[in-house]
Amino acid sequence: MDNYYKIREFQCTTKAKHGVGALKSLPDSIRELGAKKPLIVTDPGVVKAGILEKVTQVLKEAGIECAVYDQVVPNPYIETVGQATQVYLDKACDCLIGLGGGSSMDTAKGVGVEATHEGNVLKWEAAERDLERRIAPLITIPTTAGTGSEITVWAVITDPARKFKFNVGGPLLSPHIAIVDPELHVSMPPHVTAGTGMDALCHAIECYTCHFSQPHTDAAALLAIEHCAAYLRRAVGNGQDMEARYYMAMSAHLAGISYGTESAGAVHALTQTLGGIKPEIHHGPAVGATLGAFMEYNWIGRPKKFRRVAQALGVEISGLSDRDACMLGAEAVYDLAEDVEIPSLSDLGIKEEEIPLLAKEAANDPQTPGNPRDIDESGYTWMYRRCLGLI
Ligand SMILES: [Fe+2]
Repeated sequence: MDNYYKIREFQCTTKAKHGVGALKSLPDSIRELGAKKPLIVTDPGVVKAGILEKVTQVLKEAGIECAVYDQVVPNPYIETVGQATQVYLDKACDCLIGLGGGSSMDTAKGVGVEATHEGNVLKWEAAERDLERRIAPLITIPTTAGTGSEITVWAVITDPARKFKFNVGGPLLSPHIAIVDPELHVSMPPHVTAGTGMDALCHAIECYTCHFSQPHTDAAALLAIEHCAAYLRRAVGNGQDMEARYYMAMSAHLAGISYGTESAGAVHALTQTLGGIKPEIHHGPAVGATLGAFMEYNWIGRPKKFRRVAQALGVEISGLSDRDACMLGAEAVYDLAEDVEIPSLSDLGIKEEEIPLLAKEAANDPQTPGNPRDIDESGYTWMYRRCLGLI
């Protein structure tokens, strides 16, 4: 049940421009922000795929000079943000373009924080203190359909000293403009489409069922789930299927909106802490490998909502008990993960003897309190054991 005795807030200040060819709106977007010289923050994969060149060409044709930082790594570090900020300052840029998946967009958000606040991005860890002012003008252009980072108010940055991924953000971090162009997604290989797509689905399911859910985010989450169920297989099976690419892009985008200004639940507590300890494990596959177990564990916390999730996934639930409907919902997620060839946690290199440490870290993650079922180390241990096929 929604907690309507508590006054809640929903805020989304990002202007979204979307559709095939939306990249063409980039020069106007820069002008709308009153800016002249963007720093493009991106990664080597985006460069290799020829997407950076497409973006710089659009800017060149519009007579807009830009600078580039193209060394973003997966699970970006505090140092990654610092290097990009240095380029932003050295080249006298006045706005940012986060071009890529979550890592590039989150790094750009971190630069936006460092350009407008004292100290480095670590000082502004959300668990420690709120941001003091709006970040530097930021345009986000996702090249994957997954994180929804183009519209979320969070950046996830890795602190190697603690082996921990921390969050920076809140409403002051929301990107000013998001440009969602599915034409930029067609070069994504199937395994990236699959992993990032499962991440989008997970954001939607977690945010729909977690304690922070509210009607605004619920509405976005349900359509995100429906789009993912309908289009992820097609996008993985045929990367040129523009209809599937568009609706997967919107699935990720809506799931990003469903994040609201709060957090998710056990899967993101588990995968973020896992990513801090084992940075070589990519976020999308880890999420995809864990989501089915999350649903099996959590449905008794909010059975009516997990029942509705099953329906959004395409399960025929009429006449079924809550238990049967919720179990079929979990099964639908397992089937989807299998069809798009998401590796298992053991394929990703997780060993049984690592579970105690990983479960303890997940239980301490700030996203744990949002989980729909009360969960502690023993609950995370169950999820890990379930994912490794030990129970
Ligand atoms: Fe995620």
